[in-house]
Amino acid sequence: MADKIYMFDTTLRDGEQVPGCQLNTVEKIQVAKALESLGVDVIEAGFPVSSPGDFKSVVEISKAVTWPTICALTRAVEKDIQVAAEALKYAKHGRIHTGIGTSDYHIKHKFNSNQEDILERAIACVKYAKKYVEDVEFYAEDAGRTDNVYLARVVEAVIKAGATVVNIPDTTGYCLPDVYGAKIKYLMENVKGIEKAILSTHCHNDLGMATANTMAGLINGARQCEVTINGIGERAGNTSLEEIAMILKCHKDLNLVSNINTQFITPTSRMVSSLMNMPVQPNKAVVGRNAFAHSSGIHQDGVLKNRESYEIMDPKEVGLDENAIILTARSGRAALKHRLQVLGVPMDGDRLQEVYEEFLKLADRKKDINDEDILLLVGQAGTEGKRIKLEHLQVVSGKGVKPVASVCLDIAGEKFEASASGNGPVDAAIKALKQIIKREMTLQEFLIQAITKGSDDTGKVHMQVEYEGVIYYGFSGNTDIITASVEAYIDAINKFVKN
Ligand code: KIV
Ligand code: ZN
Repeated sequence: MADKIYMFDTTLRDGEQVPGCQLNTVEKIQVAKALESLGVDVIEAGFPVSSPGDFKSVVEISKAVTWPTICALTRAVEKDIQVAAEALKYAKHGRIHTGIGTSDYHIKHKFNSNQEDILERAIACVKYAKKYVEDVEFYAEDAGRTDNVYLARVVEAVIKAGATVVNIPDTTGYCLPDVYGAKIKYLMENVKGIEKAILSTHCHNDLGMATANTMAGLINGARQCEVTINGIGERAGNTSLEEIAMILKCHKDLNLVSNINTQFITPTSRMVSSLMNMPVQPNKAVVGRNAFAHSSGIHQDGVLKNRESYEIMDPKEVGLDENAIILTARSGRAALKHRLQVLGVPMDGDRLQEVYEEFLKLADRKKDINDEDILLLVGQAGTEGKRIKLEHLQVVSGKGVKPVASVCLDIAGEKFEASASGNGPVDAAIKALKQIIKREMTLQEFLIQAITKGSDDTGKVHMQVEYEGVIYYGFSGNTDIITASVEAYIDAINKFVKN
């Protein structure tokens, strides 16, 4: 019989640590519910002691989700563990994830300590967490660069102290796959009592090896992997859930299975990308826009004759349905509601009405509304509470014409107008905007992306605006990319102009 691999999703913890990817509690619950439908075994919902927002999210996700284990992160600090236990009190299955750095880099430079002291602290934090919950996972931070003999001592000691899962993070993404695989094998063969716990992989992608390292870990005996949707996470990110789920599905020869309902992969990927304003690279494995696009004539011909000549997965297996229902201006509220349900964002009442009104406005400008558009609308509805809103925008631009823009803003109910010229329509509009919002702010990054194809497509704009040394992230989507750009700038400004 095949061995089960437990999928531990840390999109809402390691993923959410990425600047600009922060979600509010309602959005986190939406993601958690989608992860539950996707079939993940464990949801790492946050780091409760780090902020009241993280604490609240762990509480609310614990209430909202039924099947997956809810996990809360802590340092090897009693206060952290108490707060995590309090946040998990509504979880049907709660897990505390506690740990400490075990590499010399961490022991000497971060803790100014020694191996024996760190070993004692590791044992103590597991024993302390066990007072609150049965399920305790220990992480040996920077295990990737920790000497295997010492790591085995730590793993053995924490299992003896009651750890049910031991996480072996390659925190810096440094390991080569054979080295990481050999580390797991060494632990499997040299730790007394290893059969009482599960080893977990947690690989970062700094050198592009996170997926390869995770697979090397699983092949050598780890039975849990820590992953994120779209591979988001600190720096170059974490191992991506969709890649591991599809590797296990395609490589039946490995005799390893996960519980992932793969047809929910694409909708979940799009939902996370849209809520976190984090575009997915077009050539990203499994979920990138081009992952199943065959452009060369030879490939197209081969696929038409026999799909398997060039495709190792059926796009439908990952929930990519080219024939998915497209909504239009004639689609009613019920059709929109159904599509939202399929996309993993069920809604009713006022919220549905709000999204429906935005949907009708978009359908006036764009013939076919696809899933990406709908998720964009979900993210945008709810701008009502924002202090600054774009009321009007008019631009004159073209070949041989000096671009000029007139902007009208609604700031807390009062209207302000300004006009300016610039070297392009966006430059002109932003100069006009800056005449109204008189702050020293600079545009650091500006990314425009079309969602799919077609000249009537919705453009997504991501911006980073610097103000007083801090970077603020702005996002908007619109069929008019100049409007989307100004709205994205305003979205960023709304994050620092509170009054
Ligand atoms: O990368 C890492 O080491 C982590 C731990 C806190 C689990 O995220
Ligand atoms: Zn990590």
